[in-house]
Amino acid sequence: MSQLNKYKRYTITSALPYANGPLHIGHLAGAYLPADIFVRYLRLMKKDVVYICGSDEHGAAITIKAKKEGTTPQAIIDKYHKQIKDSFEEFGIAFDIYHRTSSSIHHDLSQEFFLNLYEKGEFIEKYSEQYYDEDFDQFLADRYITGTCPVCSYDKAYGDQCENCGTSLNPTDLIDPISTLSNKKPVLKPTKHWYLPLDKYQPWLEKWIDEKEGEWKVNVFGQCRSWLKSGLQPRSMTRDLDWGIDVPLEEAKGKKLYVWMDAPIGYISATKQWAIDNGKDWQQYWKKQANTEDDACLMHFIGKDNIVFHCIIFPAILKAHGEYVLPQNVPANEFLNLEGDKLSTSRNHAVWLHEYLEEFPGKQDELRYVLTSILPETSDSEFTWKDYQARVNNELVAILGNYVNRVMILMHKYYEGRVESGNAIIKLTDAKVDAELGGYYDDLGKNLESYRFRAALQNVMDMARLGNRYLTEQEPWKTIKSDPEAAKTALHNSLILIGHLATCLQPFLPATATKIFGMLNLDAVTFDQELEFANGHQLNPAALLFEKVEDEAIEKQIQKLADKKAASALVTQPVVAPAKANITFDEFVGLDIRTGTILTAEKVAKTKKLLKLTIDTGIDQRTVVSGIAEHYQPEAIIGKQVSILVNLEPREIKGIMSQGMILMAENAEGKLSFVAPADEMPNGSVIR
Ligand code: MF3
Ligand code: ZN
Repeated sequence: MSQLNKYKRYTITSALPYANGPLHIGHLAGAYLPADIFVRYLRLMKKDVVYICGSDEHGAAITIKAKKEGTTPQAIIDKYHKQIKDSFEEFGIAFDIYHRTSSSIHHDLSQEFFLNLYEKGEFIEKYSEQYYDEDFDQFLADRYITGTCPVCSYDKAYGDQCENCGTSLNPTDLIDPISTLSNKKPVLKPTKHWYLPLDKYQPWLEKWIDEKEGEWKVNVFGQCRSWLKSGLQPRSMTRDLDWGIDVPLEEAKGKKLYVWMDAPIGYISATKQWAIDNGKDWQQYWKKQANTEDDACLMHFIGKDNIVFHCIIFPAILKAHGEYVLPQNVPANEFLNLEGDKLSTSRNHAVWLHEYLEEFPGKQDELRYVLTSILPETSDSEFTWKDYQARVNNELVAILGNYVNRVMILMHKYYEGRVESGNAIIKLTDAKVDAELGGYYDDLGKNLESYRFRAALQNVMDMARLGNRYLTEQEPWKTIKSDPEAAKTALHNSLILIGHLATCLQPFLPATATKIFGMLNLDAVTFDQELEFANGHQLNPAALLFEKVEDEAIEKQIQKLADKKAASALVTQPVVAPAKANITFDEFVGLDIRTGTILTAEKVAKTKKLLKLTIDTGIDQRTVVSGIAEHYQPEAIIGKQVSILVNLEPREIKGIMSQGMILMAENAEGKLSFVAPADEMPNGSVIR
């Protein structure tokens, strides 16, 4: 059935999370749950697979967080590395290794990579003007600088990437750049860096990406295409930072590797460590082999904001090195939203994994089920607690749990849990059920291999539905009197169905699958094994698989989100517009600002915002068009004293000549207020 036979070996990675905060459900739905399902499937298919992850511990993401918490970067990464690792484990993400980019094996390999490219002359060395924060005496790399994205106009784009549209940026691309340290506009200063000439790789990348059409997900392929279309620029692989991996060159003292150069290499160094720990050869999982057929299949599971790094920059680095395989696929997911709003760490609008595990102990499979059901595979999707409750109660409890429970209870009631018949081996005997089951298996395999995990989970749930239907048709609770053999056959067939269910649930709900195998008193079954019982097989007692989620539990979570929102609104500083660049004294005295009084006010026809005012400026009476109609009723402001800039170049607005500008104070929400002298002053008084 499967494509999987093409490859001897699989190297599967999930994006290395920054060790600067806890995990939330958006991370899980993006890069971890899908990969975990896929890897567990590969293992069930008896494939040679290594599943790699670890903490991303460099870059501005870490140092900025350390500053915020008033501690050191080292303390931050130690704290969050442990927290993230523990919660992944408890949630049942089955990495072969969860490593760290702060390890020495990783520093060594990253420097080796850099030197390899350096010695081949792959870098362009150039001095350029980079943004610098004079108050903090620091160059502003990556997340130290924000501004407006030149592509999509998102106003919180970082210096290296806009997370809204995914475009990779250089700090100098940002419109209205602001230092995140001082909140001021930075200055430019020359500094030397080592650039990877992505433009040079463009033709090769185009060809390579083009071959992925139809094979890669459309969202991933489309993004790559559009960046290539707009043309790639050289990208600096070094940074002026004091946290990270040293650039291994004498003349680059004090400079560090760009975090997006070192982090993906973290996949390789983690594999190296795993190989050392397990007596394996890491090169088989990463390097091109003598025969192409022996190459490992490399796959990166990521969220959509990481596409450019995994599909353009890292492949270019691997290609420049030359000895490495390239990713076969990068099945990136879109974003998960929460209760009608974007997930946000800064606003604390999230369901945090460690909190969930604490508040819903032993219920990791419930969350795995709900998240898998709503994975943002082709477009953004949404988690709500009401939906969580409905899926657990109406699907896990009512369909899956109920089916397993009914069969187990009847087996114990009628036969004391013994699987006994005239045959030595008890197999599935219902041809119709067998055929339908076979269809679900086929679909399941196809869906899993095309990264359609939502649909794949539905295939397994359809097996449970089939079981329920079969049981209802057979009515063993009736036939136990009229035709005891028929009742027994029906229940044995049901038991085998449950065995298949457990088998297929393994990638999705591993703890539940283990529980079911436990009840069946069977060892876990792989996809290529027969499912059957030896005559006389003894079942274990029935145990409940899932509990109903009560309304109170859900309301508590919804309330918690609302409380967090309210609390974060309180602590978030009012947003203040950034300071503007200095002006000269002469420029200041050039402004002629006077006190004036509003004599008349009327709405400008066919506009929402504009009022036409007549102002007595002391010098004259003049017309000013002002954008305050949404804030003031015209009749309410007649007689008000205002400040007016009188020497502003007259301008025609909606056919009216506007001569000057009324000064208004505006807060972050856009509320306006007149700026007037504190005491009444004659019109025409000079303001300075
Ligand atoms: N830390 C990055 C993020 O959270 C992902 C790094 S993935 C890797 O967005 F490829 F660099 F490892
Ligand atoms: Zn953008």
